[in-house]
Amino acid sequence: MFFKKKRKIDYDLDMTNIPKHIAFIMDGNGRWAKKRKMPRTYGHHEGTKTIRTLALEANRLGVKAMTVYAFSTENFKRDASEVEYIFKLPKEFFNLYLKELMDNDVQIRYIGHLEMAPIETQKIINDAIAQTAQNHGLILTFAFIYGGRDEIIEATKDICEQYKNGHITLEDITEDCFERHLMTKDLPSVDLMVRSSGECRLSNFLLWQLAYAEFVFDETLWPDFDEERLHHAIAIYQGRERRFGGVLK
Ligand code: IPE
Ligand code: IPE
Ligand code: MG
Repeated sequence: MFFKKKRKIDYDLDMTNIPKHIAFIMDGNGRWAKKRKMPRTYGHHEGTKTIRTLALEANRLGVKAMTVYAFSTENFKRDASEVEYIFKLPKEFFNLYLKELMDNDVQIRYIGHLEMAPIETQKIINDAIAQTAQNHGLILTFAFIYGGRDEIIEATKDICEQYKNGHITLEDITEDCFERHLMTKDLPSVDLMVRSSGECRLSNFLLWQLAYAEFVFDETLWPDFDEERLHHAIAIYQGRERRFGGVLK
């Protein structure tokens, strides 16, 4: 058995500069399991606990939105048994934690192609969304069967359809208009993107939305990522100077 040591959090965070929206690429579950000579699925199972830990802590810190990349459109390349296992995790996650998330006023949302998931997975996720729809705390969005390129193409098709039907003109197609057609349309813009496991790439995550986000790449494997690493990432964020193309005086 492996027990997690609770690490001391000693970053002096500026509570007036907490990122509004943090997006996580939850990576390293397979390597975490391999290190323990366990199947990859065990890593995915343990990784779901990290989502609960970070959602509660982000909510406590006053983060408005947290988006987690749970399954990419490219992850279908994996063995069917691994994919099937991942598709069962929402049930396990919400059975264990939905009540606690509800009690903490967390709202569940979803981006991606839910219609491609098994019916039971769709139902579990839709129930969690419906049950938490009136909550006003952290918005926890699952990017599941999600791909950034796919999202951009879907938005483009919607806009073309509206143009074709005469509902909009070419001049109406602005950045604001485009954003309103993305799956993230009701979320604040992403301030901080954190990827675990040391990989330094986006792997098709929120390609449009990350244009001006700050990036933190952390070596920790996802099941070991905890409150201390969240505070560390926010401390790095707070040390950055965001210029958005301008010049700071
Ligand atoms: C992230 O962990 C979870 C998913 C992509 C579904 P991985 O399964 O990618 O773990 P590694 O990268 O192989 O260690
Ligand atoms: C990105 O991780 C997808 C998710 C975390 C859901 P991957 O492990 O699939 O990414 P690559 O293959 O290393 O780029
Ligand atoms: Mg990976």
